[in-house]
Amino acid sequence: MVDNRDEPAHLRGGEALFSAAAAKRVAILISGRGSNMMALIEQARGYQVVLVASDTPDAPGLAWARDHGIATFALSPRGIGKPAMEGAILAECTRRDVQVIALAGYMRLLSPGFIAAMRGSIVNIHPSLLPLYKGLDTHARALAAGDPQAGCSVHLVTEELDGGRVLGQSRVPIEPGDTPDTLAARVLRAEHALYPRILAEFCMTPLDRIRSLALQLPESEERESHGQPTFFVAGKQFAQVRDDHHGDGRYVVCVRTGGADEQAMLIEAAPNTYSRPAYLGPTGWVAVDLSGDPDWALVEDRIAHSWELAAPARLLEAGGR
Ligand code: GRF
Repeated sequence: MVDNRDEPAHLRGGEALFSAAAAKRVAILISGRGSNMMALIEQARGYQVVLVASDTPDAPGLAWARDHGIATFALSPRGIGKPAMEGAILAECTRRDVQVIALAGYMRLLSPGFIAAMRGSIVNIHPSLLPLYKGLDTHARALAAGDPQAGCSVHLVTEELDGGRVLGQSRVPIEPGDTPDTLAARVLRAEHALYPRILAEFCMTPLDRIRSLALQLPESEERESHGQPTFFVAGKQFAQVRDDHHGDGRYVVCVRTGGADEQAMLIEAAPNTYSRPAYLGPTGWVAVDLSGDPDWALVEDRIAHSWELAAPARLLEAGGR
């Protein structure tokens, strides 16, 4: 049996937290060896890789993907130009109902038309701690700057080179005597752990993500209450997801606060994020908005705080969350 207790809860739960039908369909674009592609395929949970595509027909990673039963598509822009090549890749993605594109060592800038067609659904891994060292030669630049640390970043792809929002980062030390190659090897190991984890998070629905956050807290369990997914610790509710509850058009997670004062303060300070939920509002709960692009660090914090307010002394004395 695999000991995976150190993994984040949404991965620890394995497939239990994801239904195969909901797993997002991912295409990976590569130009070369494809070691990140291999990591994404080998560690795929919560998403399924349905296509590996390349601008380089002899990219070594393509053969590996084919050997592992993944559909591949390769077309060089030579002779036909980049727009035609990108158009063909996009058509292949459409044909296979691809929902998310993961760039993994794809060495060509995507054109604005391609990015617009998949806006908000393309991610990339870059071997630096963005916003440091966009572009090439990241390791040599980190060494020349005398940085104590290097790392890698997974980010959204926008028209600005390596400029989209950072979704997750991993840091590694820079050791005395490091060369760009030794540093690259250390960063690459971190890339292989980071990319599958962040892609899984990126592909989760908000409800998957709330589940992963709530169920990683000690003795927490999920049951339905009033038809809504609700999370309990030792029989007490601490989080409830509401999707258009009684037709209010909102998608929220309700959590406990310290009381009416904290509730009022939160709603006044951030009325777009917090609101007073029906039924639970009078007892000091707040609803945290999940529509659009929620602040997941804040949601995680609020759920954990709510668990602390509901958990029995025995669990808090045992070290809490
Ligand atoms: C990785 O360092 C990645 O961060 C960068 O290109 C390299 C690709 O390596 N974008 P591989 O093809 O995944 O082995």
